[in-house]
Amino acid sequence: MTSSPWEQWQQVRATVQPQVAVVLGSGLGHLPLHYREAARVAYAEIPELTRGTVPGHTSCLSVGWYQDRPLILALGRLHLYEGLSLNQATALIRRLAEQKIQRIILTNAAGSLHPSLTPGSILSICAHYQLVGTDGWRSLARCQPVREVYAQDLYERLRTVPQGIYAAVTGPCYETPAEVQALVRCGVAAVGMSTAWEAEEAQRLGLEVVALSCLTNYATGIAGSVPHHAEVLQTSQQAHGRMWQLIASLLE
Ligand code: HPA
Repeated sequence: MTSSPWEQWQQVRATVQPQVAVVLGSGLGHLPLHYREAARVAYAEIPELTRGTVPGHTSCLSVGWYQDRPLILALGRLHLYEGLSLNQATALIRRLAEQKIQRIILTNAAGSLHPSLTPGSILSICAHYQLVGTDGWRSLARCQPVREVYAQDLYERLRTVPQGIYAAVTGPCYETPAEVQALVRCGVAAVGMSTAWEAEEAQRLGLEVVALSCLTNYATGIAGSVPHHAEVLQTSQQAHGRMWQLIASLLE
């Protein structure tokens, strides 16, 4: 019997032996320079996954070498606002955790809540709020973000970038100015529509978790901003090289 595209991809993965997987978010999902691909498979071929519907997300899993270091690249992710449940939106993390990796690097595009964190800069996430559903927003009132899922011992390698708290909302609408002000009062530095539930699932499955936000825009009302997806994609594409310098420092 012939094997499926997913089985074939896993056979190649077993020969490449990557220890690290990188999930590439909005506008970051094209292959970097110095990456040599060994195999790729569409999410639609992977159990429990579907093709993503958001522009800027290729919806493929690639395995190969970045500067001769083996890794898995998830080109794009699945979001709650595509109509998925939390279980469906975290299926990618479960499939990655099954690939004998030790570390996962989650990247995303996010809005900045601080005038000093200008669009194009990168933030390393040290904690998050998961603001999904009514109870999620209630958790903000307690001002106790989730810290323990992020691998603190890897921050030394990221000392050139600021650290901050990320808030994950369901989307797809950008926040209102009042929501942004509530986040600012609780010390949030970046707001986006992913990553928090992925980080929790990855940690539950025993992976070391690092997360990096590309701050693509000021969040609604910060410096008078009204965010647009086109701006998000454009800025994240411009930050691609810098993001890869940081990812490279996490591949050992
Ligand atoms: N808000 C939420 N998600 C985002 C933003 C934002 O301003 N920018 C990029 N993703």
